[in-house]
Amino acid sequence: MNKVETSFLHKDQFGQDFLWGVSTAAFQTEGAHDADGKGSSIWDVFTSQKGKIKNGHHALTACDFYNSYQTDIDLINELNIPNFRFSISWSRIMPTGIHPVNQAGIDYYNKIIDSLLASGIEPWITLYHWDLPHDLEVKGGWTNRESVKWFSEYVAVCVLYFGDRVKNWMVINEPSVFTGAGYFLGIHAPGKKGITNYLKAMHHVTLATVAGAKTLRKLVPEANIGTTFSCTHIEPFSQTPKDIEAAKRVDTLLNRTFIEPILGLGYPQADLPVLKKLNNYILEDDLNNLAFDFDFIGLQCYTREVVKASLLIPYIGAELISAEKRNVIATDMGWEVYPPALYQVLKKFNNYNIKKIIITENGAAFPDIIKNGKVYDIKRTHYIQDHLEQILKAKKDGYNVDGYFVWSLTDNFEWAEGYNARFGLIHVDFDTQQRTIKHSGLWFRDFLS
Ligand code: NOJ
Repeated sequence: MNKVETSFLHKDQFGQDFLWGVSTAAFQTEGAHDADGKGSSIWDVFTSQKGKIKNGHHALTACDFYNSYQTDIDLINELNIPNFRFSISWSRIMPTGIHPVNQAGIDYYNKIIDSLLASGIEPWITLYHWDLPHDLEVKGGWTNRESVKWFSEYVAVCVLYFGDRVKNWMVINEPSVFTGAGYFLGIHAPGKKGITNYLKAMHHVTLATVAGAKTLRKLVPEANIGTTFSCTHIEPFSQTPKDIEAAKRVDTLLNRTFIEPILGLGYPQADLPVLKKLNNYILEDDLNNLAFDFDFIGLQCYTREVVKASLLIPYIGAELISAEKRNVIATDMGWEVYPPALYQVLKKFNNYNIKKIIITENGAAFPDIIKNGKVYDIKRTHYIQDHLEQILKAKKDGYNVDGYFVWSLTDNFEWAEGYNARFGLIHVDFDTQQRTIKHSGLWFRDFLS
């Protein structure tokens, strides 16, 4: 194919060791929801309930990655992308969440890993990308302290079967999002609500992150171990003390609550008083099991948030002022397009003692224009280019950043948004499963060549 328009950006500006990759997740792409002995996950159950997902979309087939993985791996190769991040579906390899193991599920991931390695693509595994086995949810899911043990045993199984070939691991994906949306707001699986569910899930997920990482370290001492956090640049709506204080609370919740304990700093209870309620669930020995020396931290940043004080919002006393209300350019997710957020986030997280920072997700949902078999997504191309410029700026200013993974390889199932929000470098026709590389994908291919 012909070269596409290039920007002044050049791969070499980022340095020889900079990691380039693309990210996906099992539930969003695999489909094959009950194939070959797979058990149900909380997302299988949630998507089957009426009114939970926009337009009644479900992920029974999704991108059919279960059957089309070779096509997609060939496409990763064609795009010159050297690192592929994907997640393991826990209920595919342990249908009830605990032993016994489903050999067909193991075989499936082995085929993916082997195919990636044969193509010279490095596999990066996320162990938990939100799809808890449903049978464990019946027992309370992440609100049950036992979840730490279930998770560690699952991690040990993954390591046993894949640890001989996979070097790069991410323990948990975006804990603040799946506990907040799934256990506090009830808008994601498993649809639980309330502060008690939320705080219990928060603490157990934090313990599980460390327990999972320790299991990995013990069983594969040379593994490159990370975990990922969603983060965002926060600004007060006005310079009034009220809005500034509100912005600080939101920053504490969205950017600090999950990472600080892991880094050995404990929960930031002083800056967000509701977190003091966590003390009801913290047992004596927990404080020794909340931190881990991660080889890298994955940061996932898409936008910024503008915050106003509001007495109407419980626990946090703050509201986020949407991009629509502020009348600024936004993606199909309603998220403001604001590339400097990535610079600000890198600057902020460089204040912590983190060995390596990798942007493990960044990308945008925009509508695609399809003409004569070609997919024009210039806005996505520019979004990626503009964010890469912010990374370069951060590097020039001396901030640590070691890699960039685009979200996502193909259009896929965007949780409660269904298939409306398309994030792919590759377009998927969900009726035919036909893949077409978009303009953004072609640009990325040439940039990486
Ligand atoms: C965060 C999540 O990890 C991923 O699953 C999601 O699709 C993207 N961000 C976009 O919302």
